[in-house]
Amino acid sequence: MRILIVDDDPDIRTLLGFHLKKLGHSVLAAADGYSALNKILQFIPDIVLLDIEMPGINGIETLKRIRTFDALKNTPVIMISAHCEQKYIIDTIKEGASDYILKPFNMGLLLGKINTWINSLLKESWKGFEPQQTQALNIGKSLVELSSKLIENGKPPSYSDTHIATKVLIDAVDRYGNLFIYSALDDGEDSLFVHTLKSASLLYLFAIKIGFNEQECFDMTMGGLLYDIGKALVPFALTFKPGKLEDGELVEIRKHVSYGVEFLQREPNMPSVVLDMCRGHHERPDGSGYPNGLRDADVTTPMRMAAITDTYSALTIKKVYRAAYTSNEAFNIILDSEKAFDKDLVRNFITPVAFDKTKNSPHFYI
Ligand SMILES: [Fe+2]
Repeated sequence: MRILIVDDDPDIRTLLGFHLKKLGHSVLAAADGYSALNKILQFIPDIVLLDIEMPGINGIETLKRIRTFDALKNTPVIMISAHCEQKYIIDTIKEGASDYILKPFNMGLLLGKINTWINSLLKESWKGFEPQQTQALNIGKSLVELSSKLIENGKPPSYSDTHIATKVLIDAVDRYGNLFIYSALDDGEDSLFVHTLKSASLLYLFAIKIGFNEQECFDMTMGGLLYDIGKALVPFALTFKPGKLEDGELVEIRKHVSYGVEFLQREPNMPSVVLDMCRGHHERPDGSGYPNGLRDADVTTPMRMAAITDTYSALTIKKVYRAAYTSNEAFNIILDSEKAFDKDLVRNFITPVAFDKTKNSPHFYI
């Protein structure tokens, strides 16, 4: 992605530029509004990070002028400012800003917001897919975002909405295989829906391969959409922290498991296997997992399968602290960790589940 940073503070330009380039983005920096406007049409950024208090024209005037260019009418512009008055922020959004971050900002929070905006652009590229594929991607993305909002507001994810999203996803994977999910999300930044859609589509094929019945395959796909939903309650500042996590921060991130279980069990129709996968996707048969250090038979097959797809999906997504691994690298990492994972399941996962390109599978949905 092309990202334009406009800020008169050279330290901010340097620091932001460093992290964004490390994430593979093309970065152009400008020290004020005029120089940004002079460069912007040669660069055509996908996202603009715009300071407000700058010499010459300020950020709000710069924003107004950016919006006069047809090519930049809908470009996400994230304002970064020390002005914290609510009215000021609302007025800035009314002027066309997409988002607003207060200075001094937390780098993880800003990188998380940038990821969210980059991923909002993905939908444009999905228009080139088959309608059924686009529908599965859009509904899956909306479901994860809606579920996240619900639990942020203290409510459990909706069973009926999740049921619809699961069915639409399964229909599309039955017809087209699961690789369209991967190509649609290839340019996606690290975010819950990217991870979740990859995991759920893999879990569906994995469950078929292992021999679960139709209902079980359906429920496990639903589990793939929801087992990490507790991450919605983990602050971006931690999830996207570019540096090493402190012990306390790691504990906080790991709480996403108990957050997820707490909310999923409030939905009376939620299948028990979905709860099981949420509770156990970080447990490992050798006892090295969390949160309960379960081992052996206490780590159920759906938990073990969720652990494998969760790890595979996470490894193939770019993180703030490392590049994305290729499929082969991710497989090798999982294989080298055979002690922690269920080695029989891993062997079943390697082929043909993840490479099941256009298999004419029967319809397994209900
Ligand atoms: Fe997780």
